[in-house]
Amino acid sequence: MPSRTNQDKWDLMFVNTLILGAGAAGMMAAAHAGPNTLVIDHAKLPGEKIRISGGGRCNFTNLYAGPENFLSQNPHFAKSALSRYTQWDFIDLVVQHGIPYHEKTLGQLFCDTSAKDIIALLQAEMAKVGATLWLKTDITDIRKTDAFEVLAAKDGEPITIRANNLIVATGGKSIPKMGATGLAYSIAEQFGLNIITPRPGLVPLTFTDDRFKPLAGTALPSTVTAGATTFEEATLFTHRGLSGPAILQASSYWREGEPIEINCASQTDIFDYLKSRKTTEGRKDISTVLAQVIPQRLASYLAEAWTLDGNLADWSDARLIDLAQDLHHWTLTPSGSEGYRTAEVTLGGVDTADLNSKTMEAKSVPGLYFVGEAVDVTGWLGGYNFQWAWSSGWVAGQAN
Ligand code: FDA
Repeated sequence: MPSRTNQDKWDLMFVNTLILGAGAAGMMAAAHAGPNTLVIDHAKLPGEKIRISGGGRCNFTNLYAGPENFLSQNPHFAKSALSRYTQWDFIDLVVQHGIPYHEKTLGQLFCDTSAKDIIALLQAEMAKVGATLWLKTDITDIRKTDAFEVLAAKDGEPITIRANNLIVATGGKSIPKMGATGLAYSIAEQFGLNIITPRPGLVPLTFTDDRFKPLAGTALPSTVTAGATTFEEATLFTHRGLSGPAILQASSYWREGEPIEINCASQTDIFDYLKSRKTTEGRKDISTVLAQVIPQRLASYLAEAWTLDGNLADWSDARLIDLAQDLHHWTLTPSGSEGYRTAEVTLGGVDTADLNSKTMEAKSVPGLYFVGEAVDVTGWLGGYNFQWAWSSGWVAGQAN
């Protein structure tokens, strides 16, 4: 247990390892750090993002997780932690705790019952090693003398915590309503570490006009390309723009002002299909035939937006080729994104060039560690971000 003494003004506590943030990465680090570890968090409950993740079932890892599923200035950085603590290690832990789970799709593993099972697992692992958790604790200042000193207020009562090691696990900026603050970035800057400019990731894309309002709720099996990366999943039209897994994935690769490209029928050659129907369905309206390869609402919408009229038989092959080209390469330039309000993750963060990839320790500040979403390593949609939290938290915990 941490020891505590009285001073004139501030109560003083000594610990070996102090962890800021009781989210996925912080609790994982605590469960693997040595004795005399304290975790503090300003929230009322630990692991709030775990609780709401995966629609309340937590997509806790991915069977196929590998370094190629992560974005970072240095794509090699995540390799070490991901190989030292793998998805199989976390799956073993889930099994040990008797938590029922299933694969939903594309290697994504979800709890059968509730995301709360994963929070209970982490708390049980912390209890095993005797790590202490303080909630409702605000961090007011951090300084370093011979040790780290964190000035905090626990339930409003001021306290100074002295620690040999400090693990920063306060996450990114996504969903401020849930307590995200960006504290990790200011701590990193305070200690001279570089920050890769944070931006929202896994986020719906928006258009200033209401162009997709008539299509809101329509799902389109698609492939979506942003930059040089393509995802084959569903696109969902919304009142404000585009969402769905393919768009969320692509949003992490999208930059303001750049276009994205949607293939509305990646499994079908639209030209071949329409041409083949000319003899049997030539008297039908082009949009009616088109509705056999793309959702009907989208076919009607495009018929109006792109003035697609007349019977299929009236369409020359050249016009059909152009139409197929437009549908296979529908190019759209979003005006923005829904931002941190709904973004599942924050891209960017503490520059990996300033961290040791084996331990997550700052190269220039011995004893200072950054883990989880705070670091410039961001996973795809599908359980990858939790795997990064487990892997980076584990390696930092092991080093303490
Ligand atoms: P995390 O944000 O979890 O924890 C940070 C902790 O620090 C919080 O407890 C917070 O209260 C605390 N904190 C922050 N600022 C503080 C301050 N100033 N003082 C004190 N404490 C402070 N990923 C995935 O792999 N599978 C999934 O199913 C999902 N689903 C999902 C749904 C939604 C809606 C969101 C928003 C996100 C996801 N994610 C996800 C992403 C995943 O939740 C995220 O990557 C991890 O929670 C990151 O873990 P961290 O521990 O790094 O930060």
